Amino acid sequence: MTFKAGIIGCGSIAKFRHAPEYKANPYVSDIVFYDRNPERAKSLADMFEGHAADTVEELLNDSSIMVISDCSSNESHHIFTAKALLSGKHVLCEKPIALTMEHANEVVEAQRKSGNKLMVDHNQRFTRAHQKAKEIIEKGDLGQVLTFKTTFGHQGPEHWGVNKSNSTWFFKKDRSGLGVAGDLGIHKIDLVHYLLGDEIEQVSAFQGALDKVDEDGEPIEVCDNIVCSLKTKQKRLGTASFSWTYYGEEDNSTILYCENGTMKIYHDPEHQIEVMTKDGEVIRYQLESIQTNDNQTNSGVIDAFVDCVRSDQEPIVTGTDALSSLKVTLGILKAAKSGSIVKI
Ligand SMILES: NC(=O)c1ccc[n+]([C@@H]2O[C@H](COP(=O)([O-])OP(=O)(O)OC[C@H]3O[C@@H](n4cnc5c(N)ncnc54)[C@H](O)[C@@H]3O)[C@@H](O)[C@H]2O)c1
Repeated sequence: MTFKAGIIGCGSIAKFRHAPEYKANPYVSDIVFYDRNPERAKSLADMFEGHAADTVEELLNDSSIMVISDCSSNESHHIFTAKALLSGKHVLCEKPIALTMEHANEVVEAQRKSGNKLMVDHNQRFTRAHQKAKEIIEKGDLGQVLTFKTTFGHQGPEHWGVNKSNSTWFFKKDRSGLGVAGDLGIHKIDLVHYLLGDEIEQVSAFQGALDKVDEDGEPIEVCDNIVCSLKTKQKRLGTASFSWTYYGEEDNSTILYCENGTMKIYHDPEHQIEVMTKDGEVIRYQLESIQTNDNQTNSGVIDAFVDCVRSDQEPIVTGTDALSSLKVTLGILKAAKSGSIVKI
């Protein structure tokens, strides 16, 4: 059986990941695009041999559309995703699920009420190196993870989004909401939860708008850098830095320091995982390079979403997972603002 997919929001993530991956999926027969800027919907419809809709209702009322990707900007996710779920669609919502816990809970409630699938695009879980890293931890040879260090940074969303200028919504408080913490940080919070099978429970942080300016040359309204200390429920300690000012090269790396050795993920471009044991053994794994803004490969997210719909299974990243990453991210921002330690 094949079905149609709808995409709300036709900017960069729709163009580089959702549309090509739906197009390549054998169970998706057509893609219908909607954007409040109709030219963008039309352009992606032409590019991916799909159709453009004039209104979001057109997508939601079309019973041949079974799945929807919500690729709109952050402030709209809770509106479109909840509406689509309650209209009978299965939804893959871009991260962050919402900008507040109240709105995020509304989305999760819409999922519960509708019984439809909700997956949130925390795609770090899907990379081969992160999956392999989880397998290595679970095998147990390295023992418990004691401490960790993670970072995610690139040169900034004004080089990525469809509006490639400093007037981008990513820099506006009312639309981006959480700055780099909600754009890149939330990915690594989800990754830490996934890899460790543990949850971050206490945080402290410093943040700043260190370098980015808006279209008027004023410092942006949200943080472009945030540096945090984290403590998990199982008493593991970690540090995390998220940045829109890593000029020159993207950094998406994580180090896990365990009882019996160290695992470095995405440190060496040739070997996506390097394991160094306590007794001096070094094991290097050559897997797949991570996707970067300049290197778009299949993320596996759309295939996993379509599979969970077809086989009626729980999505790999649920609304509850997204709630806990959002809660930590909001806690980090609160800690940075108040200068205090925040218990999540
Ligand atoms: N999972 C990931 O790795 C990843 C990567 C990049 C972006 N994202 C997320 O994807 C979402 C979109 O990001 P992007 O980079 O594509 O941004 P973008 O600015 O390139 O595109 C957003 C598009 O959504 C449309 N849009 C926004 N609000 C709308 C509304 N109310 N009605 C109709 N259309 C609307 C805009 O017109 C624009 O075309 C964001 O939430 C972002 O956080 C996720």
